[in-house]
This record gives sequence, structure tokens and C-alpha cells, in this order.
Amino acid sequence: MQAPTRPLALIVLAAGAGTRMNSDLPKPLHPLGQAPLLAHALAAAAPLDPARVVVVTGHSAAAVEAVLAEIAPEAVAIRQTEQLGTGHAVLQAAEALEGFDGDAVVLYADTPFIAPETMAAMRQARQGHDVVFLGFDAADPGRYGRLIMDGDTLVKIVEFKEANAAERAVTFCNSGLVCGDAATMMSLLGKLENDNSAGEYYLTDLAELARAAGHSVTAVRCDEAETLGINSRAELAAAEVQFQALRRAALIEDGVTMQAPDSVHLALDTVIGRDAVIEPYVVFGPGVTVETGATIRAFSHLEGCHVSAGAVVGPYARLRPGAEIGNDAKIGNFVEVKQADIGDGAKVNHLSYVGDASVGERANLGAGTVTCNYDGVMKHRTEIGAEAFIGSDTMLVAPVKVGDRAMTGSGSVITQDVPDGALALGRAKQINKAGLAIKLMDRLRAIKAGKSKG
Ligand code: UD1
Ligand code: MG
Repeated sequence: MQAPTRPLALIVLAAGAGTRMNSDLPKPLHPLGQAPLLAHALAAAAPLDPARVVVVTGHSAAAVEAVLAEIAPEAVAIRQTEQLGTGHAVLQAAEALEGFDGDAVVLYADTPFIAPETMAAMRQARQGHDVVFLGFDAADPGRYGRLIMDGDTLVKIVEFKEANAAERAVTFCNSGLVCGDAATMMSLLGKLENDNSAGEYYLTDLAELARAAGHSVTAVRCDEAETLGINSRAELAAAEVQFQALRRAALIEDGVTMQAPDSVHLALDTVIGRDAVIEPYVVFGPGVTVETGATIRAFSHLEGCHVSAGAVVGPYARLRPGAEIGNDAKIGNFVEVKQADIGDGAKVNHLSYVGDASVGERANLGAGTVTCNYDGVMKHRTEIGAEAFIGSDTMLVAPVKVGDRAMTGSGSVITQDVPDGALALGRAKQINKAGLAIKLMDRLRAIKAGKSKG
């Protein structure tokens, strides 16, 4: 008997060709919820807190490994140079797990919906059994491997190609996940043969091998929806629909208000706090956190940003990476914020671009304010003080600072720092010429009348 607290090694199979995706992008890197499929597999197992993560790469290994290094720097990539089957793939991890005293869980990089509870149930079943496979009742068993049970005992797994009519009639199918003592699994897999119709080393043969060696083998059941594998673009598109539905439901359950959930697009890592309101047609790119009680109004697009409690963003706002929106701040329509801190209670309500900037608490940026941050080669910063008032249509030519409680006149082009409390006017002085407008109009009308006669 093994306690589920044993250290855990995760082995993710990601070497397959993914031919049916018809793509230059390797299958594990195709995005779902704006994160690579591989990230979903890792996220599914993250609650089990794996001590080791081994990813078996093969097709387009360099590209997969480069992304892996970014999303899971602690993971080890092992190359399977020839794809000789799922059993052979798992065996590639043997060396990396040499001396590891704990369990191994195998899962596929292209099966993104395995619930953490299901992983936990497999770990739980390990208390009474040496090897635990994960099965599901298939509505259409198709070409899945069939789990042949005798009570609690998993007698063997028969691949579709090898199955006789009676075995093909079985609807309890293999998901591909399996869990057992790492060293035991590796030593059993060393005995695999490929004398089957595909000429492959089948991971599924582990069931029979383990029983023959006197180990107890069982299978845990999960929902078919969890085992949805992605092999084609059509399946990826269907998976996106499923992913979005699951995430929205989870957020709503956690206390988020969505007025038109089907129109809200989420990413794998989107975090939204309780009592936040998400209006229709909002898109969340990667890396967004929205705090409690914030409102994201319709048609806004957010990525790589943080919206603090009580802030209101949109409608039609764009928050780009590095946008940090303070408590109760307001970002209005057609406002773009990039790499900028907007202080608590500050307002940028209309038609503005704020980039590479800091905006102090309760500052007010008038309509059409632009931080001119780019000189064509380099980016420069704009700093706006607390309670500053930036007049409409002010161009802030960075690098530039506007002090606390300072003002800029509408239409100003600000190229020099503005001291605290000062009013800066950077525009041509107005002159009025008496009666000239009427004279000018009369002359233009006369010219037009002359032309139409001639
Ligand atoms: C496998 C199972 C089958 C199960 C099905 C569930 C075996 C022999 N069969 O079949 O019982 O019902 O999954 O989807 O295990 N891979 C490698 N290296 C290889 C071969 C595969 O990394 O040499 C990876 C693939 O990238 C993929 C996963 O393993 O992520 C599964 O391989 P795949 O060829 O799709 O297996 P199936 O034939 O679908
Ligand atoms: Mg498959």
C-alpha cells in the first residue's frame, strides 16, 4: 500500500507527429485558451505538486523544448528520436528518473481536459493497487484501446487493431493516463515487445506485464469529456468551445458576473475576482488579473495586465502588457494603455494612448491625451503626478514629467517638464480678426457663383 503523499514524477508524452493537424506548428504548441496544449497538460497535474516533470519530445523537438523552457523551466525534456510507440516513449524517461523513489503519472500533451480531481482519484486508487489506468465509458469507442476488467482488476488492455469482436464490443476505454511506482513501471516497460499489428511498443501492455509479475492493476473511471484528445483542427476548435465553457462556468461559480458568458473569451491563466462584472464581448489574452469588484465593460481587449479593485475599464478599451490599473481608476472608451501604472482613482476616460508612463493618484487625463513615447528608435517614459490635470488633446513628448497638481492647457505639445502646481501652455497664441470670417465667406461664394455662370 502506498500513501498518495509519495513524491510524484510527471511524464508527459509529446513526441508524436500530429500529422492530422496539417500544420508546421508542432501539436503540443497549438494554442487552446491562448496557451499551448502542453501547458494545459502541465496545469492539470500541477495540483499534485510533482517533484519531477519529464516531457518526452520528438517531432519538432527543439521548438517544443524552447516553449517548455519558458512555461515550465523546472521540467526536463527527453528526446525520443524515433516514435516507436507509447510504451517506448515512457521508457525514454527511465534515465531521468533513475533513483527516483516515488510514483510516476503518464499523460499526453494533447489531452488538455483531465481534471485535477481525476488525477487525485488515480493517486487515491494507488493506495490499494500497484498500477492504476484511467478509463472512460465511450459513447463511440471507435479505435480506443479497450479495458478488459474482472471486477476491480484490470486484466489487460487490448488495442483496437488487436481486439476480437467481443473485445471491440467493450465500451470501457483507455484514456492513456497511467500511474504506478516509477521504478517498477520502468523495469516492466523494459520487457515490452512490439509483436503487434502496428509493430509498436504499447504502453497498454503494461497492464498484463504488471499482473504477470504479481502486481495488482486497476482502472479508475472519468468523464469522457475529460479525455477528449486533439488530433485535428476541427477537434482543436471543438476543444476551444469546451475550454471556454468550462472556464466561464468556473468563474461564474466563483462569484463573477457575466451578462453574456458566451461572448467572453478567456485564457488558461485568466484570474477574475469575486463580484467583478464582465460585460459582453470582452477578450482576455494571456496574463490578466482582474480584482474583486472591478468592471470590464463591453468590447474591451486585455492582455498581460492587472486591474485593481473597483476600477472600471471600457467600453472599447485596450489594455496591453504592463498595464497596471489602480483601485477605482477609470479607463474609458478608445483608450489604450501599455506598460503604464495608472494610479488609484485616476481617470483616462476618452480617446487616449498612455504608454511607458506612470499616472499619479486621482490625475485626470483629458480626451485625446497622447504619450508620445517612441522616437522611431527608442521608447521614453512619461511621468504624471498625483492630481495632475492634463487638458484635452495634450501631446506629452517623452521623456517628460508633469508634476503633482500641475495642469496642461488643451492642445498643448509638452516637451519640457512641468513643475508641481504649474500650468503649462504649449500651443500657439490665439488671435481674433474682426469681421474677417464674413468677408472671406462672401468672397468664396462670389467665386463659386462666377464659375457656375461661365
Ligand atoms: C493510445 C492508446 C490507446 C488509447 C488512446 C487514447 C497505446 C498503445 N494506445 O492510442 O489505448 O485509447 O491512446 O487516446 O498506448 N507518443 C509519443 N511517442 C510515440 C507514440 C506516441 O510521444 O512513439 C505520444 C503522442 O504524441 C500522443 C500520445 O503519445 O500524445 C498518444 O499516442 P497516439 O499515437 O495518439 O496513441 P493512440 O493510437 O491514439
Ligand atoms: Mg491518439
